[in-house]
Amino acid sequence: MAVILGIESSCDETSASICIDGEIKSNIIAGQVVHAKYGGVVPELASRAHQQNIIPTVDQAIQEAKISKKEIDAVAFTRGPGLLGSLLVGTSFAKSFALARQLPLIEVNHMQAHILAHFIESPKPAFPFLCLTVSGGHTQIVLVKDYFEMELLGQTLDDAAGEAFDKTAKILNLPYPGGPLIDKYAQEGNPEAFRLPEPQIPGLNFSFSGLKTAILYMVQGKEAENPNFLQENMADVCASVQSRIVSILLNKVEKAVKQSGVKDVAIAGGVSANSGLRQGLLELGEKHNWNVFIPKFEYCTDNAAMIAIAGYHKYLKGEFVAQDIAPLARMHV
Ligand code: KG4
Ligand code: ZN
Repeated sequence: MAVILGIESSCDETSASICIDGEIKSNIIAGQVVHAKYGGVVPELASRAHQQNIIPTVDQAIQEAKISKKEIDAVAFTRGPGLLGSLLVGTSFAKSFALARQLPLIEVNHMQAHILAHFIESPKPAFPFLCLTVSGGHTQIVLVKDYFEMELLGQTLDDAAGEAFDKTAKILNLPYPGGPLIDKYAQEGNPEAFRLPEPQIPGLNFSFSGLKTAILYMVQGKEAENPNFLQENMADVCASVQSRIVSILLNKVEKAVKQSGVKDVAIAGGVSANSGLRQGLLELGEKHNWNVFIPKFEYCTDNAAMIAIAGYHKYLKGEFVAQDIAPLARMHV
């Protein structure tokens, strides 16, 4: 039997999870409300909150899994990418726990873990498959050849898809994080109400900064004519924005399938919680006969279950790290 404790602290979510023989038994997530009033994550405040949350979060994960600390066989933690001060809390905790209990230590790449979240539940994708990984910090199309063998086929040249949602939300005077709110308003709106440009970026790369500027100018122009424009048109604006972000993403996915010939397609990361993206991928999959994989909501945004499952697969391979391991703010898949 292999019991893995997974720890995630890369951004503003402190999370701990227990995985037993590849099955997730608990996944506790402590969010941080402190950032909302600043309109974005404040790194210094995030590390302090992780420091306060980490022990109760781990305790709760162990309790919910109905095991004792003594039964844990290895500790997996997010090494990066993320905010260094935040990563340091999870890394230091994992190292101390492993040292105290004489357990092997496993480092996990957060972006790989988002993808490996697909191995928590069934049906699981078969290798190779394509994954569109879309989060607050990343937008990538990845060819997943094996658990830890991933090839980056394309990525954003500027803002990430999550940033495009969050920055647009700011323009629309919606609180942080704006992605889920745009999604909510979009469900009541007309996606064709406002025409927004689709950037012409070669290959499988993305760009979102032009879209943000186009939205800003569009809103400013409309507000000059009608100061209540936003209040009166929030649903239509959100639906139009969301529909454009989704079409930018899915057009590249379509291209990636054509180029690679791989017809198993997954989405991962916080933005994969977006209802428009989920629906759009399902429709595209049906049209082209792809096998589509969409994670459960709780495994889309940051969580430790994905770290624990990634850790479990490294545990099976005996891939451990030494106590002098340090977190990295930047890491590639
Ligand atoms: O993966 P994640 O939890 O954290 C990072 O690793 O960045 O992703 C967070 C991002 C934020 O930008 C948030 O606005 C976005 O995911 N997000 C959404 C939705 N839920 C979360 N964006 C659009 N629609 C959603 N429903
Ligand atoms: Zn993430």
